[in-house]
This record gives sequence, C-alpha cells and structure tokens, in this order.
Amino acid sequence: MTGFSVDWLNLREAADRQARNSELLRVATTFAFSGVDSQAVVVDLGAGTGSTYRTFGQRRFPAEFAPTWRFVDNDRGLLGEAARRADQNHLIETYELDLNQVAQLPLIAVRLITASALFDLVSAPFIDRLIAEVDAASAGRPVGIYAALNYDGSTCWDPVHPFDQQVLEAFNEDQTTDKGFGPALGPDACNYVKQALEQAGFGVQLAASPWQLEGKDAQLVAELIQGIGSAVQSCPELVREDIADWLAFRLAHVATGSCTVGHTDLLAIREP
Ligand SMILES: C[S@@+](CC[C@H](N)C(=O)[O-])C[C@H]1O[C@@H](n2cnc3c(N)ncnc32)[C@H](O)[C@@H]1O
Repeated sequence: MTGFSVDWLNLREAADRQARNSELLRVATTFAFSGVDSQAVVVDLGAGTGSTYRTFGQRRFPAEFAPTWRFVDNDRGLLGEAARRADQNHLIETYELDLNQVAQLPLIAVRLITASALFDLVSAPFIDRLIAEVDAASAGRPVGIYAALNYDGSTCWDPVHPFDQQVLEAFNEDQTTDKGFGPALGPDACNYVKQALEQAGFGVQLAASPWQLEGKDAQLVAELIQGIGSAVQSCPELVREDIADWLAFRLAHVATGSCTVGHTDLLAIREP
C-alpha cells in the first residue's frame, strides 16, 4: 500500500503519542532494554518516519542499553526521513521491504517487534505468517510484540450529526478492504492478533489508546474527516448529497467540536 505522506504522519504523531497507553509502553520499553544481552534488537514494522522509535526515546536508559533499531517499510522516502531524524549515536538500520515478504524480515536476534497504526491494515493470513516467522526466529529466547494504535471501529463526535452512525458503518466497512495484505482485519485486528499470539504461547495485554481530539487538533481532524469522506464515497447505502452534508457540517466544527477515535494497544511477551 502507498499513500502515507510525511505530512500526515507528522500531523498524527503528537496525537498518537498522547493516546498510547502509558503502562503498556512502559512495560514494552523496559522489556526491550532489559535483556541479558546489552545489545537488544528492536524491529519496527511499517516504521514510517520513526514515530515509535522517537516515542521509545522519551524514556531514558543508560547508553549501554541503547538497542539497535531496524526500521522496515516499503516506502523509501519515509525510511530516509526516519533515519535522518534518528539520534546519530544510535544504531539504526533501514530495510526497504514489502512486509508481505515475511521470510525476508530482519528478525535475527530480535527482542521486540513494534508496529504502530499497522495491524488494522493487515490480514489474518499475514498475522499467521508473521507469528510463524517470529516463532522460528526467537526459539529459546524471550521475545515481545508491541502493536499500538490499532483502530477499534469507534468514533464519537461532538456535536452529533444525523448521519454519524451511517458514515461510521460505511467507514468501518472500508477498513476491512484490502490495504495491500489481503482483506484487512480493520477493527477486529486486536482480537484476532491476541488470539493468535496466545495460541503461540504469548501472554497478551490489551489497553485502550483513543485519540481525544479537540480544537487544537483542528488540522488533524480536518484531514481525518476528508479521509473518512473519501473512504465512504462508493458506499451504496449513502447518497452523495448526504455525504456532502455530513462533510460540510463536520468541517465547520473542527475548531469548536471534539471527537474520540477508539484505538487499542497490544503488548505480547513470551519467555522461553
Ligand atoms: C499508518 S502508517 C504508520 C507509520 C508509523 N508506524 C507511525 O506510527 O507513524 C503505516 C506504515 O506502514 C507502511 N506500509 C504499509 N504497507 C506496507 C507494506 N506492504 N510493506 C511495508 N510497509 C508498509 C507504510 O509505508 C507506512 O509507513
């Protein structure tokens, strides 16, 4: 899949950071940096411009525990941006790769796999293949998966509009279409991934990480509204005039209204 611009990822980074569940993030960072080997490896799938790496960097650890970060993405421009923004004293490796090539993922010596705003885009078979690769790469060693900011299918607006529910249903339908991995898990992502990881012997925790957006986030909210509008254009249950009406109302309230977009963070850890 293409189409994640630096501008969009920049726009959402602050809201994402605020939304991430702080307890799961704390446990994930502690797990990543407290291995018996001082040179832990973190593999960030769909790294974009490195938002997850920067979030982990907010927590300070002794230099000897700084892990190697492997950024994986199929967008060369985003990978370049991630590397450019990284702390030059850190060990950073970039991998321009289609994640569907799971056997090519750089999982050697991995301690933690991270993925933010990604697992709702992927399919169930992709998750199954990924878990099998992680399983093989980490046999006999502790390994963790931190997958944050998975859209959960809920969006609440204030003020309300009569078409909110219809638009939400159409948007959620679109979220399950192919985003480059086969039919996307969409709002069901965390349930599926949790179950699959538990079957593979991981202990899994889920925690809410909603975007809570208001006037100060007007630019992000406006982009979100436009994105929802585009996604529902071809929905047969919605007439074009109704979508236009909803869009105009929503855009008129970006500075004065608020919205909550539900996400779930997942942390899975397996000790041998
Ligand atoms: C929603 S963005 C999230 C980026 C970053 N994790 C963040 O939280 O800001 C999804 C990322 O996955 C990458 N991506 C999507 N499909 C991919 C694929 N098939 N192979 C590799 N990367 C992919 C995109 O290029 C993008 O950087």
